[in-house]
Amino acid sequence: MRGRCLYISVILGVFTFSLAEEQLVDKDIAKARVEVKQFIKEDAPLFHNVQVKYIGGAVPELLLLNNSDQEVERIGLSNLSREECNQLLLKKGFYKKTTDDEEVPEEYLNGPYKEREEL
Ligand SMILES: *[C@@H]1O[C@H](CO)[C@@H](O)[C@H](O)[C@H]1NC(C)=O
Ligand SMILES: *[C@@H]1O[C@H](CO)[C@@H](O)[C@H](O)[C@H]1NC(C)=O
Repeated sequence: MRGRCLYISVILGVFTFSLAEEQLVDKDIAKARVEVKQFIKEDAPLFHNVQVKYIGGAVPELLLLNNSDQEVERIGLSNLSREECNQLLLKKGFYKKTTDDEEVPEEYLNGPYKEREEL
């Protein structure tokens, strides 16, 4: 009888441990989201021809549209850091202003935006 009690308590111990591990993973994912939120709130508005649209409950995604507003490419941002989100848009050829009222250079005013090899 005592042997059986011990067995159960060991199982409980293992179970608690794996729960704790799962919470750690959850925490990591939440952090990545916060960074995307900062990107969306603070960085995305500085990019020319990038529009931020809030859709309640939706995962953050980057939609690349053609001149007729049709979707050409869709990239999930959930797992990217704030820095990676910035790099992604720059790599896609978009122009980031340093201040709200900075003038956009002629060549970036309108698309098509071409992928850049290096930044
Ligand atoms: C982009 O726009 C054109 C019209 O200018 C349309 O015919 C075409 O299907 C669109 N491309 C994509 C990939 O949606
Ligand atoms: C983010 O990462 C998780 C776990 O690594 C994965 O299951 C999920 O599909 C990823 N999401 C995107 C949008 O790439």
